[in-house]
Amino acid sequence: MALENEKSNLEFNFSKRDFERLRKLVYEHTGINLSEEKQQLTYGRFAKRLRALKISDFSDYIDLIDNGDEDEMDHFVSAITTNFTSFFRESHHFDFLAQEVQRIGMKSRRIRIWSAGCSSGEEPYSIAISILNAIPDAINWDLKILATDLDKKMVEKASAGIYDAERISGLPEQIKKGWFRKGRGDNAGKVQVAKEARSLITFKDLNLLHDWPVKGPFDIIFCRNVVIYFDKGVQRTLFSKFSAKQRSGGKLIIGHSENLANVSNDYKLIGRTIYEKL
Ligand SMILES: C[S@@+](CC[C@H](N)C(=O)[O-])C[C@H]1O[C@@H](n2cnc3c(N)ncnc32)[C@H](O)[C@@H]1O
Repeated sequence: MALENEKSNLEFNFSKRDFERLRKLVYEHTGINLSEEKQQLTYGRFAKRLRALKISDFSDYIDLIDNGDEDEMDHFVSAITTNFTSFFRESHHFDFLAQEVQRIGMKSRRIRIWSAGCSSGEEPYSIAISILNAIPDAINWDLKILATDLDKKMVEKASAGIYDAERISGLPEQIKKGWFRKGRGDNAGKVQVAKEARSLITFKDLNLLHDWPVKGPFDIIFCRNVVIYFDKGVQRTLFSKFSAKQRSGGKLIIGHSENLANVSNDYKLIGRTIYEKL
């Protein structure tokens, strides 16, 4: 990676040392492990912050973060996290979810679900909609979905439940009509998730690397496409903490390119990226 050699073409000086310092700070604050190849991406993500703050040097920006500038910290985290998500992403998980909730509901109507790393909310809303669509009576159960993310901007967006209409254009008509309301006035061209589905979810900002002020135990945990950026050590700690928040038989659902090999022995694989606590 020859960013230094291309210095003259870059708007801001970005040395190898700057990258190493940023990499360390990103790791400490988010658990995200930036590889050498991510130098250019890192430059691009943070260059926006330097521009916004009218800072001309990367080292000054890094000093700001190093000194724990609280106002900038949220922007720092937002700049480096990847928030890509969509409604009913990896849809087989939601088919499984509806069956699992049905199964649990035959024994107990108290069900706790956690969407950890929920980004802008499409995942927890897909959870709520899948359940209510399959089991309308679940609205009367003691069913709660906790949705958390470390990126406060995402949590704010998620809790509003308002999206550009095109985000749901590929969903079946019955889901669109049944679970989304069309916006008017300022919200024309947007849709909002129906109140019943929103009422099941509590949104909170939470860094998975820090303490978790969450109760549990959780019947089902979704932690999809989050740990992909963490090294194995961080993943091990994280999954042992998830395991401590579940009873035997609890389910853990991870992203399509993730797995628990060499990370946790507390779960067994029971489906495509679906695990059960032993
Ligand atoms: C790619 S999105 C995945 C969203 C959703 N789970 C899905 O699969 O569609 C990853 C999310 O993980 C969040 N994240 C990254 N590091 C985190 C951490 N240390 N604690 C909590 N959330 C984190 C990011 O802010 C981002 O919103």
